[in-house]
Amino acid sequence: MLEVTYLGHSAVRIKGSKIVFIDPFLTGNPKAALAADKITAADVVVVTHDHGDHLGDAFPIAKRTGAVVVAMHEIAIDAESHGLTAQPMNIGGTVEARGIRVHMVPALHSAGRGNPAGVVIEIDGKKIYHAGDTGLTYDLKLVGEYFHPDLSFIPIGDRYTMGPASAAKAVEFIKTKKVVPIHYGTFPLIAADPEEFKKNVGAAAEVLILKPGETIHL
Ligand code: NI
Ligand code: MN
Repeated sequence: MLEVTYLGHSAVRIKGSKIVFIDPFLTGNPKAALAADKITAADVVVVTHDHGDHLGDAFPIAKRTGAVVVAMHEIAIDAESHGLTAQPMNIGGTVEARGIRVHMVPALHSAGRGNPAGVVIEIDGKKIYHAGDTGLTYDLKLVGEYFHPDLSFIPIGDRYTMGPASAAKAVEFIKTKKVVPIHYGTFPLIAADPEEFKKNVGAAAEVLILKPGETIHL
């Protein structure tokens, strides 16, 4: 049984046989459900792209816990230069880190160093897709066809990513069983309505609207 906790914005913690953080932007995140300096255990920290609201506290968390940073090559090399253990990768690749598998998939967005990406994480027999930041693109269809995610985290905040209508179209592509909307409501510029997203998704997937700090079991 996996415990999957939404930490606010795009930050997610997965607790199973291993503890995984994805895009742990907590410091400076007005919706953060957890203070970064309270995190004492982590095995893997995954970063989708080099924007502050995703890279966030990834390096300090890895430093404190000894977790492996799994990220786009350019970010991972920087992590290593800071004395951290990292697994550099790029779109299309899969790496194994501390017994979990991370597949990196395309995202249509921008980034500081390297390209933006999404990730599919395989842990304890489940596949969890985190889309990072992306616009609606047919590449998402391939993610669905190839990985069949059990659970997906999809940005719906509009302006920088998909909005509640286009994100619902993405859910159709991804063929995910369950979906959690993320990347909305953190700041006024991305004040989207998750209920509108849920309505648009309809019967295509089970939509789980989580408050920061809420946990689901998978
Ligand atoms: Ni971004
Ligand atoms: Mn973002």
